[in-house]
Amino acid sequence: MTEHVLVTLEKGVQILTLNRPDKKNALTAEMYGALADGLERAERDPAIRVTLITATSDAFTAGNDMGDFAKAGSTPVDDAPAEKSDVARFVENLREVEKPVIAAVNGLAVGIGVTMLLHCDLVYAGASATFQMPFVKLGLVPEAGSSLLLPRLIGLQKAADLFLTNKKINAQTAEALGLVAEVFADNALAAEALARAQALAAQPPNAVKIVKALLRSGDRAQVAAQTDAEAVHFAAQLRTAEVKEAVGAFLEKRPADFSKVA
Ligand code: COA
Repeated sequence: MTEHVLVTLEKGVQILTLNRPDKKNALTAEMYGALADGLERAERDPAIRVTLITATSDAFTAGNDMGDFAKAGSTPVDDAPAEKSDVARFVENLREVEKPVIAAVNGLAVGIGVTMLLHCDLVYAGASATFQMPFVKLGLVPEAGSSLLLPRLIGLQKAADLFLTNKKINAQTAEALGLVAEVFADNALAAEALARAQALAAQPPNAVKIVKALLRSGDRAQVAAQTDAEAVHFAAQLRTAEVKEAVGAFLEKRPADFSKVA
């Protein structure tokens, strides 16, 4: 349990609300664990028909906690935990869960805040939401199978533009690209997303599961394999000088300098 992810149930909809507003809802290992647990609970509990992921304040999530990146990068390889990490469990559960998952993006979405959306069955956004994947800027690589899913969804050029240039797009562009199903006024998003989630929760549950599976069929094994391939690069990059410089610069609130990185 963590106070940084609130869990409520409303008429068949489990709402997982990221709640670390002072850090723009940046995700810690504990928070990934709570999200992963929530998705497992949804599969077990017949009272849950749909899971809705959203967040408090003006941010959806600023992505992975930078302090955790710094720690992971300095942990000796031999001391790395043998069991699956909470982030890996979250990504796997999100990919494999049979019941639908909806996201309501209430503000900035960065890094995994965007890549997780590629696994959500419906994504709604507030008009002032923004989307950015600054993996390269941090010396990192995309995760959660996004290097496969994103180009498939929006085309290679548009995906490269987001991944390689750190470009930030707004909700209208995200909708036009097909990342988002519908955009609402910021103050209407929570109610509209919940109403849609509850309407879906009232549908015949088995038909919903089958349609979800059909929409994703053909993808799963490939996406899992791509996720594993990305994870190998991600873990290796975390230990490099370029990531140390990028993450160190963020934590020390200074510009990064890659001029000495070989
Ligand atoms: N990890 C840890 N802390 C984070 C964070 C993250 N990913 N993103 C933001 N924060 C913290 C900031 O350090 C700051 O903490 P402080 O008040 O103790 O100094 C607080 O959240 C508010 O962030 P701030 O940068 O002041 O807000 P902003 O509105 O100017 O900028 C962002 C918001 C999200 C654009 C900016 O914080 C940012 O670039 N964060 C990093 C995003 C990122 O690269 N994520 C990883 C992707 S792979």
